[in-house]
Amino acid sequence: MAVDGKPFLDPVETRLFSRGSGPLLKLVRGEGIYVWDEAGNRYIDGSSGPICVNIGYGVREVWDAALKQLERLPFAHSFHHAVEVVVKCAEKLAEFTPPSLTRVFFCCGGSEATESAAKMARQYHLERGEGSRYKVIARWQSYHGNTLGALSMSGNIQRRRLYTPMLLDFPHIPPAYCYRCWFGKTPESCDLECAWALETAIKAVGPEYVSAFIAEPVVGATLGTVPAPEDYFKIIREICDRYGVLFIADEVMTGFGRTGRRFALEHYGVEPDIMAVAKGLSSGYIPLGAAVASERVYEAFKSPFFHGHTYTGHPVACAVGLAVMEYIERHNLVERAAEMGRHLLRRLQDLYDYGIVGDVRGLGLFAGIEFVADRESKKPFPPEKRVHQRVYEACLRNGLLIYPGSGTVDGVRGDHIQVAPPLIVGHGEVDEIVDRLYKSIGEVKRELRG
Ligand SMILES: Cc1ncc(COP(=O)(O)O)c(C=O)c1O
Repeated sequence: MAVDGKPFLDPVETRLFSRGSGPLLKLVRGEGIYVWDEAGNRYIDGSSGPICVNIGYGVREVWDAALKQLERLPFAHSFHHAVEVVVKCAEKLAEFTPPSLTRVFFCCGGSEATESAAKMARQYHLERGEGSRYKVIARWQSYHGNTLGALSMSGNIQRRRLYTPMLLDFPHIPPAYCYRCWFGKTPESCDLECAWALETAIKAVGPEYVSAFIAEPVVGATLGTVPAPEDYFKIIREICDRYGVLFIADEVMTGFGRTGRRFALEHYGVEPDIMAVAKGLSSGYIPLGAAVASERVYEAFKSPFFHGHTYTGHPVACAVGLAVMEYIERHNLVERAAEMGRHLLRRLQDLYDYGIVGDVRGLGLFAGIEFVADRESKKPFPPEKRVHQRVYEACLRNGLLIYPGSGTVDGVRGDHIQVAPPLIVGHGEVDEIVDRLYKSIGEVKRELRG
């Protein structure tokens, strides 16, 4: 089927057990920041897929690395065997992450990474003779993945709803969401109650039961790119240390240069005990994730980590991960993201021309736009208006892919989009993205008025 000259596939007519609710745009090729559909239409990938194709499409060094490893040895079981490229990828990742993080556990994606981190934290406490600690405290309006353990940590109400009876009873505290502060504070009156809420939660649960706290340094898909206030993570770190709780940073979306630093937590001058990474680690070329632990965590283990999968430390995935990290370094993509991110955020201020744009925010090449029915009161649109989806569709018509989301306000109401092009994006291309976005939002505004 074709809509506006664009080729779509209705998954109902295939053997796919579809995850979406509508037709899918048929893509066939990618190069740089662009992808093409089957009819030859070109799109700017303004969100790097779901914020993962950080180095852009068509990087030859990455295919070469994958092919070389496929040819040599496509698989070896990490429980019994060592493959050089896996060891090298771990070495590179430990070098890439903050200095205190030294030990790498590989897996296949973000959900496995956060879940592995949670299990690592649990075993860490057991090894230290504190076997009562198992609860992971997380935040509402967060996302840490969709497997049951990861979803139990996630505070994304829509994604949890169907599976609530199956989830673990993990506590959640309010998010650090300044545009709609849960404590009714303004930047002037802010005393970081959102951070101190962690201490309240630890005391309420009983520190002897709390294993870890997990947070995204910049909340991604659920809130639409919300950076934490400046001192937030310093307080979090202090509270975790005071109560013997491990701090897990979920850098699945924010890692590998996305925010203009290698990892977003670097903006806050704090290091975690365990970091969950995925997406940008392989730039979407292959499934790969990791939980990277500090030496202190690792040293507590007197017995092996009792966890793992068939594909833990997959040689081809690690060859890709290594090639991607080398590419990021060789092309100074972290510095580039910082520079282009400043330009993107500056240019996105133009969107305030439209009253339906409530907030433009972000860090590096990681931006979010929240839509409102009324800017003064910040009232959201009724969910049935599907404003995020309308913006997505308008952008698609204008040859731009962005990442839409809903439930921004309270898990149900609210609309946002994320704009996060590959880190190789140029100055003129950033302008083009913003121009297309401007046009698309204008169209949606007229549609809503109609
Ligand atoms: C912050 C964060 N953590 C975890 C995940 C889960 O990653 P995956 O979809 O690779 O399982 C995501 C996915 O969007 C994410 O954004």
